[in-house]
Amino acid sequence: MQEIEIIKPDDWHVHFRDREILKVVVPETTRNFARAIVMPNLIPPILNGKQAILYKERINKAIPKTDNFEPFMTLYLTEKTNKNDLEEAYNNKAVFAAKLYPAGATTNSDSGVKDIKNIMPTLEKMAKIGMPLLIHGEVTHNEVDIFDREKVFINQNLDFICKELPELKITLEHITTEDATMYVNQGNQNLVASITPHHLALNRNAIFVGGIRPHNYCLPILKREKHRKSLIKVATKGNKKFFLGTDTAPHFTSYKENCCGCAGIFNATYCMSILAQVFDDYNSIENLEKFTSLNGSNHYGLSKNKTKIKLLKRENPIVFKKQIKVGNDSISVFNPNFPVYWEVI
Ligand code: DOR
Ligand code: ZN
Repeated sequence: MQEIEIIKPDDWHVHFRDREILKVVVPETTRNFARAIVMPNLIPPILNGKQAILYKERINKAIPKTDNFEPFMTLYLTEKTNKNDLEEAYNNKAVFAAKLYPAGATTNSDSGVKDIKNIMPTLEKMAKIGMPLLIHGEVTHNEVDIFDREKVFINQNLDFICKELPELKITLEHITTEDATMYVNQGNQNLVASITPHHLALNRNAIFVGGIRPHNYCLPILKREKHRKSLIKVATKGNKKFFLGTDTAPHFTSYKENCCGCAGIFNATYCMSILAQVFDDYNSIENLEKFTSLNGSNHYGLSKNKTKIKLLKRENPIVFKKQIKVGNDSISVFNPNFPVYWEVI
């Protein structure tokens, strides 16, 4: 039996939603993570500091008394965002970062940005005050193939932002391609990327094995094996520019198993077990801590967590629970469908 101890991880990209879902998913994250950046794509979205503070209070109420956890709030950028309000919300510590959703790119992104040029004054302000920009990096034009949307975003938009504002702290979120790993690796020191457990664990075949698999549908969509391998390489080497952002994104099972199923994978429950297994499979368990607990806080200029967690490699694989109940519906729990031996104890 093998055991490891690592600094308690942080999750730099979560969706907690609101109301009844929030209550059941928050403890799934706070069990193993000390801090998280919380996405603002609610309906309606979190557009100002006041809404962020109220949302944070609802999250704090859902944290079990036994867990120490700090949520970091974000603002949803639109073409109408007032840069002075944004600065005030940041200076008051109501929010930690701002999120850029290209309009139509994903769940609840309709109020997002149609043309990056329209928000350049806001981005300039963010660069000036040191506020991080978090980017869903996909274009949305129908003529661009869904598997190419990240690469085209990098070429058409990200490159422009990085050249205009090299001092802006940017996280290209949930990257999925070799193009992204290369661009970020070669980019300036303020440009980093987060990676999800599902994009490390699966390639795009997982959406179609033996039939259509709605629980493996997320955005950006899973990619070819060569892209997954490129993510594996930067993550398991402990490369400083890459860290964990799970993009755990709960939807009701009935909305996933649907003729127009929602994008999003709920992976909070076994995230650390799956990651330990992936790192172990690539003989890199010693770099797990950098990916989950050090690289992200280092980029964001935060201290590392003081507590630790232990993981134990069992004789037999974990039997995953399939679902978490929410009222009369449920949320389906991500299972990568390979044996996972590592358990958080
Ligand atoms: O698959 C996804 N689901 N990708 C996103 O970017 C958003 C998320 C959600 O909010 O459901
Ligand atoms: Zn997300």
